[in-house]
Amino acid sequence: MFDFEEIVRSRCSSRRFLPTPIPRELLVEALSLAQLAPSNSNIQPWRLFLAEGERKDRLREALMAEVRANPRELAPLPASFRSYRRELGAIVYGAMGVSRDDEAGRALASRRNYEFFGAPMVGILCMHRELGLVDAVGVGMYLQTLVLGLTARGIGTCVQAALTTYPEVIRRELAIPEELVILCGLSLGYADPDFPANHLKVPKQPVEKNVSILGQVSQSG
Ligand SMILES: Cc1cc2nc3c(=O)[nH]c(=O)nc-3n(C[C@H](O)[C@H](O)[C@H](O)COP(=O)(O)O)c2cc1C
Repeated sequence: MFDFEEIVRSRCSSRRFLPTPIPRELLVEALSLAQLAPSNSNIQPWRLFLAEGERKDRLREALMAEVRANPRELAPLPASFRSYRRELGAIVYGAMGVSRDDEAGRALASRRNYEFFGAPMVGILCMHRELGLVDAVGVGMYLQTLVLGLTARGIGTCVQAALTTYPEVIRRELAIPEELVILCGLSLGYADPDFPANHLKVPKQPVEKNVSILGQVSQSG
């Protein structure tokens, strides 16, 4: 069996993949594990479309054609969160050898999102559009379980909000029904060990920044 803590600690986003296909047996194992994720009223709201081979190549070509013809910015972050994206960019692009002021280099690196970073398989994660935020939490629990199940089997991943920048292209190419909303993408495959940016330990905040443990109630409160 796998050591849970070791799997959680070893996972990091992969942004260059080898073309080696994912053994179907390992994929099915990870997908079956992810089905065990909890969800509101056990709705199991996740809908995952996986594309490989010709279907994935066709999606990549369609996305790249759209990126060239009609380039769009990533969805902006609220002002108070923008520094996170800047800091992450410095770390990830830095590891790729692209400097802070190299606009063209950054744009090229960012475009690799739409080529799924060379992954042999891409997933598109959806849920029914009538469901709400609480159900998106369930989809998130599914996604993390899947990602960790893949990590345990030596398979790298990158969750990608960038793929939602061209939802109509993805919907058309993968015949995703209108009643589903596209939440994010997931590139998956064996990470290229020779790519320095595949070994980043992106810094995480201390627990206190995200968690408040509330106990004694003060006289004034
Ligand atoms: C919902 C979500 C969307 C993300 N979107 C992208 C993306 O579009 N492109 C990308 O390169 N990384 C994307 N990431 C990966 C994050 O940048 C990454 O998880 C974060 O920087 C922490 O690094 P780590 O995964 O290596 O711990 C996304 C991650 C999540 C969970």
